[in-house]
Formats: sequence, C-alpha cells, structure tokens
Amino acid sequence: MNAKPPKNKDSANALWGGRFAAGPSAIMARINASIDVDRRLYKQDIAASRAHCQMLVDAAIIAAADGKAILGGLDTVEAEIDSGAFNFSAKLEDIHMNVESRLKDLIGDVAGRLHTARSRNDQVATDFRLWVRDAIDNLDAGLKDLQMALLVRADEHAETIMPGFTHLQTAQPVTFGHHLLAYAEMIDRDRGRLRDARLRLNESPLGAGALAGTSFPIDRHQTAQALGFERPAANSLDAVSDRDFAVEFLAACALTSVHLSRLAEEIVIWMSAPFRFVMLSDAFSTGSSMMPQKRNPDAAELVRGKTGRVIGDMNALLIMLKGLPLTYFKDMQEDKEPVFDAYDSLELCVAAMGGMVRDMTVQAAAMRAAAAQGFSTATDLADWLVREENVPFRDAHEIAGRAVRAAEEKNCADLSGLTLSDLQGIDARFTKGALDVLSVESSVASRTSYGGTSPTRVREQIVAFRKRLS
Ligand code: ARG
Repeated sequence: MNAKPPKNKDSANALWGGRFAAGPSAIMARINASIDVDRRLYKQDIAASRAHCQMLVDAAIIAAADGKAILGGLDTVEAEIDSGAFNFSAKLEDIHMNVESRLKDLIGDVAGRLHTARSRNDQVATDFRLWVRDAIDNLDAGLKDLQMALLVRADEHAETIMPGFTHLQTAQPVTFGHHLLAYAEMIDRDRGRLRDARLRLNESPLGAGALAGTSFPIDRHQTAQALGFERPAANSLDAVSDRDFAVEFLAACALTSVHLSRLAEEIVIWMSAPFRFVMLSDAFSTGSSMMPQKRNPDAAELVRGKTGRVIGDMNALLIMLKGLPLTYFKDMQEDKEPVFDAYDSLELCVAAMGGMVRDMTVQAAAMRAAAAQGFSTATDLADWLVREENVPFRDAHEIAGRAVRAAEEKNCADLSGLTLSDLQGIDARFTKGALDVLSVESSVASRTSYGGTSPTRVREQIVAFRKRLS
C-alpha cells in the first residue's frame, strides 16, 4: 500500500507545507521566525503587493475581478495593522506570509493568486529596498535640521574666540562659529553619501522570482515605476541576493555616527569643569544620584556610545554576506535587524545632537581666556617677521620660539605680556607693530584665507551654506 502518511494540517505551514507531513519543532519555528523584526516592513510589503497585483491584472495573468478582490483585501490588512488590531503569528514566520494568510482569511482562495510570478525572495528584497529608501529620506531631513542648528549657533558665534587644538594642545585661536561649521561640512558629506546610496539602491528586484525570473509575461518596468524605482534590476540572480544597498546604508550611517560622536566627545570635554566652554540646561543634562553638584552630558555620552553599535551593525551585515554564494540564503534574514537598529540609533542621535546644539549656552569668557593660554599666537609673531622683515619662515619660527621661552620665564599668561624691549632683546628687528599681532583677536581677524577662521570668512561661509541648504 502506498497510503500517504496522515497529515496534521494545523501544524504544517499552510503556505508552503504541501510536501511536509508535519510541522517544525518548536526550536525550528523559533529560529526560523522573523516576524518580530520584519513586521516593520508591512507598509512596504503591502505597497509592493499592490503594484504586483495591478501588473498581474494589466498583463492578463489574473482576472480583473480577482485583482480587485486582492486590492480590497490588502487595504483591509493594512488598516488592521495600522490600527494595531492585526494578530501577528510567529507560526507564519514573516511579514510576507502574515499578510498573505490574513488576505486569505478575508477574501478566500483568490488570495492565492497574488503570489503568481513572485517569490518571497524578490518580495523581501523589494520591501527592504523601499524601507531603506524611506529611512534615507528621513535621516536626510534630520541631518539637514542639525545643519540648520549648527548654522544658527555659528552665526551667533562668528566672533567668539576659542582655542583651536591639535593633539588637544592649544594650537591657534579660532572662532567658535568656524568650529561649528566644520561639523556642518562633515554632515553635508554624510548626506551626500546617503544620497549616493539612494541612487544605486533605487532598482526594483520585484519579478526576479525566487532567482531565475518567471515564465509569466510580467511587466517589471510597470511594477518598478509604480513603486518609484528608476528601473528593474537587470539580473534576477543579483536582484534576490544583492544586499549592497543595505551595506552602503550602514556604512553611511556608521560614518555619520562617527562624526556625531566626535562632536559629542567635544561637548563632553567642553562641559567638564576645567574647560566650562559650554553648559547644557536641565533639558539636556542629568544629575548624579550621589554627588549633588553633578550635571552630566549623558546625551552626548550616549551619542558617542551608540556609535559603537552602529559600526557593529555594519560589520554584522558584511560578515553575514561574505561567505554566501548566489543566490538567496536564510542567513540573509539577519540583514534587517542591524539596519533597523542602526537607523533607530542614528535617528535618535541626530535629534539629540540637534537638541544639544540648540540648547547649549556658550561661555565666551572662558573660551576667550583659554584661547590666549599656551602662547597660541606664537605663529602670528613668526608670520610678522616674515611679512614685515622678510625673515625666512624657518628662522622666524626659531625667533618666535625664543619669545615663547622668554614669556614662560617671565611667567606671562600669554604672549601679550611681552614688552617691545623683551622682543628686541630676542631680535633687534622687532618694532612696535609686532605687539599688535599678539592678541587672540588680531590673530583670528588675520586668518582671512579662503576657508579660514576670521569672522569675515566665517560669515561668508554661513551665507554660502544657507544657499546650499535652501
Ligand atoms: N523572511 C525572509 C527573509 O527575510 C523572507 C524570504 C524567505 N525566502 C525563503 N526562500 N525562505 O529573508
């Protein structure tokens, strides 16, 4: 006798269980299910199903009446998920099968026609691209807002003098506005990288099928266009296995996070008592449960801290992909969590950074005092010798170095403490004019080269930036 083994319809998967006699073990079901993560794709999944369904009708692959029933059912499914009424089931593994199964509850067997000429492999690749595309657009808006915040504060502080550092040693005085604009530039490049990623991402995998394409007369250009893609992806094998777009997104996120982290680190330093360059209000700082005097820049520290996980998210995806031959493997189901995590982390960090930039009070007097320390105008003295006395820069550097030593020996707080006779004791070519270049104000005012720190140049940079952003 070749009687079929009894089949437990309740436990075998309703959407692919035809060749299975029984359902998966509890552990198999648990490792296989992704619904808790990929339910976030529901809008994209339903949008792609709508486009696919309409194309199937237009190509006369399914009947118009069936297409109408499917589209109506998809509206209901979406409304149910929107409202929170939808009952997600881990037994149905992922968002694609949850949606399709509910569609069947709602409209009956005709729901089964939706999966004609489609696989979950091209489906998930399509949904995920649509999701990352939206994520890029949201991040871009957030980053632009952060740039605006930086520009406003830079404008306020175009003339505020602070120490510029290299090696965290006082180097030359700069303007705080100039310093903030440096971050606006970094963020501009970050936005450019996200835009670049979006351009390459914007191809439709839909219609690639499981891997080989389909025998049905589908119109991939139609579905691509309906979903706002530039074109259908040219190779079906590549379409279902390519996750470059997610890697590029994560790489752009990682670098953006690193930029935010560097600014966060500066805020942490600027907030510490020996600096006191900026203060954050109650709205953007926290206290200590033990030390009553504390005001901690926790949000800045968390921006710095979360950067580690965003970099980790990028690594996770690259490592997941590196050993995979063509085409789809279930490993790739692990692609979504790092992307969602990086997006959630970065989106919050961008908002927190904008909040801190707007909130911080700038202690201009403390910055000004620190800017003069460490003989920060020694370069100006050397430049004066080159300009006024035609001294070769190397010799001028040596002479200015001796002036620094003299100021140190005299216990001067800064080089302005030197008198003309002090200077002439070092080199007879010094005249009264040399004294004028020793203040931090004249130092920054003189840095008028393109992109330099002088208030005039900073104001020009702000105007140019505003134009770029509008
Ligand atoms: N949940 C799956 C994923 O995210 C969808 C694709 C499943 N494809 C398959 N052949 N099992 O990757």
